[in-house]
Amino acid sequence: MLSGRMARVAPSPTLRVTAEADRLRRQGIDVVDLGAGEPDFATPEHIKAAARHAIDTNFTKYTPSAGIMELRDAICARYRADYGVDFRADATIVTAGAKQALYNAAMALFEEGDEVITHAPYWPTIPEQVKLAGATPVIVQTHGEDGFQIHAQPILDAITARTKGIVINSPCNPTGALIAEEAMTAIADVAARRGIWIVADVTYEKLLYDTTPHNLVKILLERNRDRSVICSAASKAYAMTGWRCGWAIAPAGAITAFNAIQGHSTSNVSSITQKAAVAALSGPQESVTMMLNEYRTRRDRVWEWLREDPRFTCLKPRGAFYLFPNCVDALEPAGVRTSAEFAEALLNQARVALTAGEGFDAPGFIRISYATSLDRLREGVTRIHEFVARRERGRVSA
Ligand SMILES: Cc1ncc(COP(=O)(O)O)c(C=O)c1O
Repeated sequence: MLSGRMARVAPSPTLRVTAEADRLRRQGIDVVDLGAGEPDFATPEHIKAAARHAIDTNFTKYTPSAGIMELRDAICARYRADYGVDFRADATIVTAGAKQALYNAAMALFEEGDEVITHAPYWPTIPEQVKLAGATPVIVQTHGEDGFQIHAQPILDAITARTKGIVINSPCNPTGALIAEEAMTAIADVAARRGIWIVADVTYEKLLYDTTPHNLVKILLERNRDRSVICSAASKAYAMTGWRCGWAIAPAGAITAFNAIQGHSTSNVSSITQKAAVAALSGPQESVTMMLNEYRTRRDRVWEWLREDPRFTCLKPRGAFYLFPNCVDALEPAGVRTSAEFAEALLNQARVALTAGEGFDAPGFIRISYATSLDRLREGVTRIHEFVARRERGRVSA
């Protein structure tokens, strides 16, 4: 008999797609994987070298559960250089990816009776963690017509006497949308007045494709420092998803609470990973720029290719590495009723893996990850279009 808590939580739909695509590939089937939520690049050499050095010098023991000071200092220095903000190492904690940073925040800050506002389409872990903490997610919809922009007013309108937190994910997975600095400022000011926590998931902070300023970190630290938690990771920026290194930046009191949770659950992030992350944050940043430029090219190309069939529509996303097109007009021609059925048919019949919008609380959409080569992207989009055209021809001639 499982605990009551488990009735509240659903498994990750994104990981399910990866597992299914993996299963088909192991049978020797050529699947184009547009489902991946991770960079296809290798971790840069200097980062791997730092990890090898850690092993060779026997840096392989427990560390403090909040992370080694060298890494906590490197986080401070990176954010000072990137955002012009100052905070001390005791305002940081090293976590097993951004996921654990967000989990710590949910567990330490939210409980039964609390409402936590976030925006949809969302990365499913965000509301699931809120539910695991016993609190109630309050979902504010964003809309494809304006590129899923995260506006301040609908979020502020959702505040009630029970609101304990607001979770903002920008750049957003799955939409690639950003919150504008003005919107973040407006939300931060109200949150500061009303004592509401803002949890900012900026995991894709390095994957911004235009020059519009996006300094959420500074806004939050200037406007709502006592109640802001910034969660991020080395995962996407440095192609380090498997290393499991993230961090939270928060008031020292919250960090102490996060540390207590980690201290009794996972303890420290791997000592080797921590040394690698020091090299990532403190070393040359050229590889970040190189990957960003490559993602931008792919985004532009795949966006153009997708529009060869006008039944797939989306504005060009401004961050992360996903397109999130509306596919409603392609469903009937493809002989399916929902985007979930469409994604399933694409995998089984066209051998293209992608994630249906249902997993992100957005039926009628599909998520296409462009964290894969241009060749595979071209092949994947061609297969999607041909699949719809083939099914349509079949239906017309039947
Ligand atoms: C929006 C968002 N936040 C957090 C994470 C978790 O990242 P990590 O692998 O660092 O735990 C992901 C991973 O896909 C994500 O998409």
